[in-house]
Amino acid sequence: MSEHSPIHLQHIILIGFMGCGKSTIGRELHQKLGIPLIDTDEAIEHKCGKSISNIFAESGEETFRDLETEYLRDCLTNLTSSSIISTGGGIILREENREILKRLGYVVWLKIDAINVYQRTKKNRSRPILQQPNPKKVIADLIELRSPYYRETANLTINISGLDRYEITTGIIESARYYYSQQAQ
Ligand code: S3P
Repeated sequence: MSEHSPIHLQHIILIGFMGCGKSTIGRELHQKLGIPLIDTDEAIEHKCGKSISNIFAESGEETFRDLETEYLRDCLTNLTSSSIISTGGGIILREENREILKRLGYVVWLKIDAINVYQRTKKNRSRPILQQPNPKKVIADLIELRSPYYRETANLTINISGLDRYEITTGIIESARYYYSQQAQ
């Protein structure tokens, strides 16, 4: 495994809690920059031929976390063109994953508060971690637990409240360009 992604690769990696808009912002970046969009959840679902909910139900969270780590290792060795990488909200839980994310490139944390997460996720049944009797508390507790990991991994933090898609994507593109221009020197 190489120490870092090859210098010509300029990935933008999106991290953040469930419901923060990684997929939407990932699609916008993909359209604006014209580079591939990779979604770790979709890649895992595709590889297993099962939904995330079924993987959790049949094999448990640890198996899903193993699949995430395996997929990130693959990205580090096999990606040959600069990409947008949108990740699952819990990908930062493992130290190995955090290290790989940093080595892959420019990491952006889309920071969201618990109330907004609840509003955005309450009708969606596809996230097994939130299918609990008291999702508001689960969300608040998990955000508290995970925030230090997001912070530690990210090159850039964007507090998304009050910003629209355009402002978020423009900010990401400009700061990623700046970051990679400095790396090249
Ligand atoms: C998870 C987030 C989900 C998905 C899985 C677990 C988490 O992705 O990876 O349900 O632990 O936060 P999104 O953040 O895209 O919803």
